Amino acid sequence: MYKKIGIINSGGDVQGLNAVIASAVIYGSKLDYKFIGFIKGWEGLLDMEYIELDSAAVRGISHVGGTILHSVNKGRFAGKAGVDGSMNKIPEEILELTIANLKKLEIEALIVIGGDGTLSAAIQLAERGIKIVAVPKTIDNDLSSTDRTFGFSTAVDIAVEALDRIHTTAVSHDRVMIVETMGRHVGWIALHAGLAGGADAILLPEFDFDYNELINFLKWRKNIGRNYSIIVVSEGAKAIGEAISSKDIGGPEVKLGGISEQIMNRLNMLAPGEFEIRNVVLGHIQRGGTPNAEDRILAKSYGAAAIDALHNEHYGNIIVLRDNKLIEVPIHEAIDKLKEVTQEALAFKTAKRLGIFLGTKIDSVSN
Ligand code: F6P
Repeated sequence: MYKKIGIINSGGDVQGLNAVIASAVIYGSKLDYKFIGFIKGWEGLLDMEYIELDSAAVRGISHVGGTILHSVNKGRFAGKAGVDGSMNKIPEEILELTIANLKKLEIEALIVIGGDGTLSAAIQLAERGIKIVAVPKTIDNDLSSTDRTFGFSTAVDIAVEALDRIHTTAVSHDRVMIVETMGRHVGWIALHAGLAGGADAILLPEFDFDYNELINFLKWRKNIGRNYSIIVVSEGAKAIGEAISSKDIGGPEVKLGGISEQIMNRLNMLAPGEFEIRNVVLGHIQRGGTPNAEDRILAKSYGAAAIDALHNEHYGNIIVLRDNKLIEVPIHEAIDKLKEVTQEALAFKTAKRLGIFLGTKIDSVSN
C-alpha cells in the first residue's frame, strides 16, 4: 500500500522551489509514494485546494523560477509577525481544521518547504502529532542551522549583475549610487553581492553605520580622485541609534525597505551639494527568474533528502546542509536563532581587508 504525502511550500518564493518539488516527487514515486501539492501553502490545506503530483506533473519544472504550487507570505497560518519576527501562535481552530483535512485526504506525512514563519507553523502542527519533514527555504540565508539555502546564490548573482550595470553608469556620471538589497534582518545578500560586485561601502543590519563616517569615507574617495562610489545597503541596515526603515502594509506583517532612499536624503542634508546621489531598490528581481546551477543542485538534493527522511520515518526534522552534507536536525533548531553576519565571516573579513567601508571607521582599513 502506498503512502500519500502532502507537499507545502509557503512564504516568499525563491529560485529552486520547483526543483525541490520535482526531485521529491520523482524520487518518491520510485519508492511508491503518491503526492499532492497544496496550492498557496497552508491556505490550500485549509481550503482543500490541491493538485496531484506525479512524475509527469513535475516534468520540466526544475529550471523554472517561482513555484507551481503558488505561495503566500501571510494568511491564516502566519507563523511570524512584526518587525522582530516574533513567533505567532496559530489559532487552535485553524490547527484543528488542518488536522481534520489531512485525515480526510488520507495524507500520512507532509513535506513542508519554508522559512522561519512557515517552519514555526510546522512546529505547532508537529507538536500535535502531524508527521512532518521540513526543507529550509529563504533567499536571505538566515537560518542558523544550515550552511546554505537554495535561492541565495541566485539572488546574489542577480544583485551582482545589477551592480556591474550600476558601476558603469556611476562612473559616467561621477555619482554615488546606493543599491538596496533584500535580506530582512541579516546582511548575507548585501555582503556577498557587494564584495563580488565591487561595492565601496556595504551596510549591513548586523553593524549599525555612522553617517559622519560614511560621509568622510565618500569625501576621502573623492579627494583621491575616485569620483564615484557604490554603496550596497541591506534593507534591514540602520544608522546608529535609528530604527529600521519599514513600511506598514496593513496586517501584522511589516515590510522592510526604504533605507537607500533614506540614506540618499540624509547624505544630501548632511553634506549639501557634495555628492550627486541616486538610489536603486533591487527588490523582488532578486527572487525572480531561473535558479542558477548551484541552487538547482542544492534544491534537488534537499528534495531527495526529504524523501529519505520520510522513508526512514524521521519526522519532526528539517534537512540542513552542514560541511557539504545534508543531515537532519529537529525543526526548531533551524529557527531558534538567526544566522547573522559576524566579523568572522569569510566575506566580511575579506571586505575589511580590501578597505570596503562596513559601517564605521573601525571596520574599514584606509588604503
Ligand atoms: O525573506 C525573503 C524576502 O525576500 C526578504 O528578503 C524580504 O524582506 C521579504 O521576503 C519580502 O517579502 P514580500 O515578498 O512579502 O514583499
